[in-house]
Amino acid sequence: MARQPSLIPVSEPWLGDNVLPLVRECVETGWISSEGRFIQEFERKWSSYCGADYGVAVNSGTAALQIAVASLRLEHGSEIIIPSWTIISCAIAVLEAGCVPVLVDCDPETWCMNLDQVESKISSKTRAVMPVHMFGHPVDMRRLIALARKHDLFIIEDAAEAHGAEVAGRRVGGLGDMGCFSFYANKIVTTGEGGMVVTNNSEFVDQLRSLRNLCFNSDHRFCHTEIGHNYRLTNLQAAVGVSQIDRIDAHIQKKCWMAACYHERLKNLSYIVLPVEREWAKNVYWMYGLVLHDDVPFDAAEFARRLQTRGIDTRPFFIGMHEQPVFQSRGLFEGETYPVSERLARRGLYIPSGLTLTELQIDRVCEAIIQVLN
Ligand SMILES: Cc1ncc(COP(=O)(O)O)c(C=O)c1O
Repeated sequence: MARQPSLIPVSEPWLGDNVLPLVRECVETGWISSEGRFIQEFERKWSSYCGADYGVAVNSGTAALQIAVASLRLEHGSEIIIPSWTIISCAIAVLEAGCVPVLVDCDPETWCMNLDQVESKISSKTRAVMPVHMFGHPVDMRRLIALARKHDLFIIEDAAEAHGAEVAGRRVGGLGDMGCFSFYANKIVTTGEGGMVVTNNSEFVDQLRSLRNLCFNSDHRFCHTEIGHNYRLTNLQAAVGVSQIDRIDAHIQKKCWMAACYHERLKNLSYIVLPVEREWAKNVYWMYGLVLHDDVPFDAAEFARRLQTRGIDTRPFFIGMHEQPVFQSRGLFEGETYPVSERLARRGLYIPSGLTLTELQIDRVCEAIIQVLN
């Protein structure tokens, strides 16, 4: 029997030597819970990196989206426009705040929300829009901000996948009213699990801090007038985050190098569409996605299986919110169709893109792709 080649993982975190002294300090001083110097340092460093005044650290990107939407204190039934093609966290955050997610399709090349469709979805109930910077490519925030100003809408950016991405030279996350990040292990900066909301608005900060910490009351701690959550990040996780921020330039450089290597080796394959970078954008290539052309006689799931047998791990693309059984069974998005989102869900996947990837592994991945597609 032929020996199975070792699997090249889709993603591995890259923790440098600089993490250990910081984590050791937490352990040795006993500051292992959600108080301790690294929380504030992490919030300060990350918000400043994003060009925002404040950061509120939480224990996941999903939690960041949830408290960001909740902190707007919108009237029940208010509408928030989100892309259909995104992680379910976006829709959950909207629904849990008693609001209604209104969907738009995405751009077939950047995979980000289709801005041409946003205006047509604005109604008298629309209060906010949630751009999601996809796979490292930013949404054109200049256009979206103009639209939001015209219609008096809040903007909550989901920059979970796009740490350090730029729109006309300005980093994402700090461009809307609030920016949400995930620091899950596959993110460019990781804390293992974690997230943050950044903002320039101090009023939001008070709400966000309260919501992440069970809405304890400042006059009488255990008398609650609002429902909050325990979404606190630990000092241990924040220590990892601080060590990671110091390395972010190297992480982004590695992602861009990886993308250039893949592009060089795959650009002449006519069966797949590769990621793009608009001229106004800095794509940080969080994960390198591929989309199969319609004339390839199998779908992304089969493509993934064939790559897996050649030792290449992949992950499927998101399934649109309008195709989610959990929402369909609740009567949401009935009869709605978003062709680009549907296509990406069936034809797209991402290939190994971790921070420890070597050129030799990239060669192996590309050889396997070429074999499978030829
Ligand atoms: C676009 C986007 N938003 C939000 C999240 C949620 O982050 P978390 O897994 O930290 O809850 C993710 C997770 O990968 C994501 O890709």
